[in-house]
Order: sequence, then structure tokens, then C-alpha cells
Amino acid sequence: MGKKFCGKTSNVGGKPSNTSVIVANYFDEKNLKDILIPGIGYGRNAKPFIQHNMEVTGIEISQTAINIARENKVNNKIYHGSVLDMPFENKLYDGIASFSLIHLLNEDERKEFIDNCYNQLKPGGYMVFTAVSEKSPMYGKGTKFTENYYEMPYGVKLFFYNSKLIEKQFGDYGLIDFVDIDEVNEDKPPINVLMIKCQKVSR
Ligand SMILES: C[S@@+](CC[C@H](N)C(=O)[O-])C[C@H]1O[C@@H](n2cnc3c(N)ncnc32)[C@H](O)[C@@H]1O
Repeated sequence: MGKKFCGKTSNVGGKPSNTSVIVANYFDEKNLKDILIPGIGYGRNAKPFIQHNMEVTGIEISQTAINIARENKVNNKIYHGSVLDMPFENKLYDGIASFSLIHLLNEDERKEFIDNCYNQLKPGGYMVFTAVSEKSPMYGKGTKFTENYYEMPYGVKLFFYNSKLIEKQFGDYGLIDFVDIDEVNEDKPPINVLMIKCQKVSR
């Protein structure tokens, strides 16, 4: 567990992140077809899944982000609401992928979000989360609330994962593996994120 993957990405404009390309390829290898993306934002990370002919549904709290997704011709179904109010329909998915959302939530919300995702997975289905890592340059900046939970100087609260915290948080949810990825943006220093993979136990 905890292998290092060095990839390059550009998050500028509507380009998908390298993480979303990796997850879409992984879901394709597993032959997953029906995918939920909680916190879909303006939709850039839906594109690699759509290119694999997967059916993509999103959840997004920001109507502005949904409007931008529509302007960018991202036309898949998007539920407007919070991941804390899942499920939005009586349906199970083959795969769930959530990029850079879980670390924005507090402790109770993170647990609720993971529970909600696990409950919407088919038996044998996969869920993948990307989250900011303790190795990122933002770690330790701003005001500390609890272990690894900080309010950044620009006002956003972030929870920083490490291997121990991943095992604690995802151990009961079919944790398979996690990988370190350096996200490299054209105009910013690299940000170290963790890609966390889980599989729902088949019954
Ligand atoms: C850091 S952005 C990442 C967006 C997108 N996943 C990407 O990587 O391009 C986090 C996204 O999650 C959304 N979000 C934050 N809290 C949420 C919640 N409780 N329920 C649904 N979406 C939420 C934000 O509006 C934002 O679009």
C-alpha cells in the first residue's frame, strides 16, 4: 500500500486531472459502466469516463458550478445538492469517483459521505476518492482545529490524510490500496494528493 505514482497534469481550464484519467482507465479495466461522481464541479473530470462510454451521474452543491458544466457542454445528469443528502435516487452504481471533495468535510461529514457512497455501490463495485495529503505544501498552514484539520489563511478548511488516517477511515469500507500522486499545474507548485481505492465486499 502507499506506492508512489509520479504523474503530470494540468488543471487549467476544462482539462481533466491526471487522476481522473487514471481512475477512468481503472474503472474501464474493471468493466464498470454506471458511474457516480460526487462533487463533480464544472465537469472536467467527468470527461475521461464519458470518453470510455460510461454513463456518468454527478452530484454538486454549487449551482454556479453546474451552470459552468452546462456551458462546457457537460450534459450528463447532475443532482444539485449535498453529498450529505445522498441518495438522490434509488439506484446502485458500479463505480463512484470523487475528486478533491472529501478533505473539505469535517470528521462527522467525512464518515457520513463515505457511508453514503458505500451504500450506493453495487456489491463488488469500486469507489475511489482523491484527497489532499499531509505531504502537500499547504499542510500545517493556518489555524489548526484537530489532528490534520486546518483552516487555510484564505478561509477554506482542509483535512490532510496520511497512511495511518486512510487505514483508520477506510479500513471498514473495503480499502484496497492508496497511491501518492504529484499533481503538477502549469502555474503552481505540485500538490501531493492521495488516490484511495475501495471495493464493496460481494455478498
Ligand atoms: C475542490 S472542488 C473539485 C471539483 C471537481 N471534483 C474537480 O476536481 O474538478 C470541490 C467540489 O465539491 C463541491 N462540494 C463541496 N462540498 C460539497 C457537498 N457537501 N456536496 C456536494 N458537492 C460539494 C464544490 O462545490 C466543488 O465543486
